Amino acid sequence: MQLIDGKAVAAHIKQQIAQEVSDIKAAGGKTPHLAAILVGHDGGSETYVANKVKACAECGFKSSLIRFENDVTEQELLDKVKELNEDPDVDGFIVQLPLPKHISEQKVTEAIDYRKDVDGFHPVNVGRMSIGLPCFLSATPAGIIDLLAHYNIETKGKHCVVLGRSNIVGKPVASLMMQKAYPGNATVTVCHSATPNIKEICLTADIIIAALGSPEFVTADMVKDGAVLVDVGTTRVPNANTKSGFKLTGDVKFDEVAPKCSFITPVPGGVGPMTICSLMKNTLLAGKKAIYK
Ligand code: GUN
Repeated sequence: MQLIDGKAVAAHIKQQIAQEVSDIKAAGGKTPHLAAILVGHDGGSETYVANKVKACAECGFKSSLIRFENDVTEQELLDKVKELNEDPDVDGFIVQLPLPKHISEQKVTEAIDYRKDVDGFHPVNVGRMSIGLPCFLSATPAGIIDLLAHYNIETKGKHCVVLGRSNIVGKPVASLMMQKAYPGNATVTVCHSATPNIKEICLTADIIIAALGSPEFVTADMVKDGAVLVDVGTTRVPNANTKSGFKLTGDVKFDEVAPKCSFITPVPGGVGPMTICSLMKNTLLAGKKAIYK
């Protein structure tokens, strides 16, 4: 069993980005600038956004954090999105999700100029991804693909089972894994809450990508020997023994599943660090106007 070290791979990629940014600056080019909008004070979102700002500094990017309280109106948020769309200094920006219930996430996502949509959530980017055109790939699926490539994991002709059908992970990663490319070329099955025989399907999987948000859902009796396990779950499970009062828990029962695997991602330190890295890659592409002019 080999542990997939997302933290190390992410550090390596960020170092490469920092070098390229340093070269761009030395040649008199523009410093890539990522802006992030954060609404409210949700603990998870605060941590994610703080980590994104920190990663920007590591890469040599400029970053701006724009905060609103929970009672911000949808129109105020849409006005800020419009302002960032029109700001020539901002290369890319994100609106951290989830948003308060009174604001339509879909409306806000669609208001973002797809040429600055470094989250890859805008329908233009999602559509271009699904037909294999250059675009901003959404961060978690792109991070998974980069990890598989980094470890030279064979995907062609393999049976890849994706657990979960969310718009930000399950659907896009299924789409990328079936694309005629490496990593890709897999036969993909997507399981979700209405799939009756998940265990039987998982037992036929060469690669399992677990993105349900259901702590320790995948147990040893669902996994065949030699399978590759990618765990996207990051649920905060209350735990009295940790300083924070919770333990970040994946969708895979790691201790019993790991011995059966050829490769497995840990939680934390697997897919998580790669997600932020993908956002940094997209920000560099946006700064260079490498995808859209
Ligand atoms: N909330 C959870 N993951 C993400 C992400 O990748 N981007 C944004 N904007 N919000 C999120």
